[in-house]
Amino acid sequence: MTILENHSLKRLNTFGIDAWCRYFAEVSSVEQLKYLLGKYPPAEYQHLILGGGSNILFTGNFEGLVVKISNKGVWVTFENEHEVVVKAAAGEEWDKFVEHCVSEGWSGLENLSLIPGQVGSSPIQNIGAYGVELKDIFECLEAYDKTSQEIKTFVKSECRFEYRSSIFKNEARGRYVILTVSFRLKKVNHCLRLEYEAVSSVLKKMGKSKPSIADVREAVCSIRRAKLPDPAVVHNAGSFFKNPVIDSQTYQELSQKHKGLVAFLENKNYKLSAGWLIEKAGWKGYREGDAGIHPLHALVLVNYGKATGMEILNLSDRIKRSVLQQFGVDLEGEVNIH
Ligand code: EPU
Repeated sequence: MTILENHSLKRLNTFGIDAWCRYFAEVSSVEQLKYLLGKYPPAEYQHLILGGGSNILFTGNFEGLVVKISNKGVWVTFENEHEVVVKAAAGEEWDKFVEHCVSEGWSGLENLSLIPGQVGSSPIQNIGAYGVELKDIFECLEAYDKTSQEIKTFVKSECRFEYRSSIFKNEARGRYVILTVSFRLKKVNHCLRLEYEAVSSVLKKMGKSKPSIADVREAVCSIRRAKLPDPAVVHNAGSFFKNPVIDSQTYQELSQKHKGLVAFLENKNYKLSAGWLIEKAGWKGYREGDAGIHPLHALVLVNYGKATGMEILNLSDRIKRSVLQQFGVDLEGEVNIH
């Protein structure tokens, strides 16, 4: 393992922000991680654990140690005729793992196709797309506890999953380094999740009245490719804000005031489309220097080249203020700001 000093993070964050860190190392085992954390103890050094860097905005240089997680491996830890529990190392690329499961005929992850990032980051914000959240197929995870210096297993209830959130984003922030994540997937009786209108209509266009897992993956990939910019082409970190959840009365009032308001009923509350609010506030496609809002999806902020993290953050603050002013809705960020 090589420890680098004054290392550029530009290629390690999908926003493509040109930030630097004081120390940098890539770890592929717990032993390497323990050694690093011993050499740069948390009491003296700030730590940042980086997966795919696909949900982070650097607003300046990082004066501490950045650890990129690169352990690899996929193992079946339980199997019967109906189900399989598959464990993946945190450093595995998320979509390669999804593709592997789909090709094995294991269902559950297909709606989460093409999400950028690594397996280890997926539980932190309980990634979700097209009607499925990670928590729906999550079995357990193993994490290194920086405080006790031991490996702890978390079952689902201990992770306190919520919409784009978990214990690792809240109470336990910064304490654990996720090492592996296990999923319980179905080998037979696949309950494909087709309720999301975009998915069912693409499948219909594909002529698939009885879609397979692979068909669903293909449909999801084609929707994402059409709507969401590929970070390899235009720097971005996916949705910059969460979709705000409001109660039914607030929803009634808002929908009367604003024709065409897009919202989805969820456990008696309403999840508003932040993309719609931002678009209606006039920001879709807006660009200032190299910071902008994507022309195809108003929830995605982009760096067209040399934008700084502060420029992106300032733009996001202006969007937030303008949505609050026009709709009285307070947008909450989804991306981690550093
Ligand atoms: N919409 C607009 N204008 C826009 C974008 C969206 O009016 O510019 C409206 C449209 O009516 C559209 C609806 O919002 O039909 C929903 O849009 P979309 O299907 O793109 O979903 P989203 O609510 O904007 C969420 C997730 C995405 C995930 C999609 C699909 C959040 C914050 N975002 O976006 O996740 O891929 O659903 O399930 O929950 C991410 O977290 O980074 C991410 C991309």
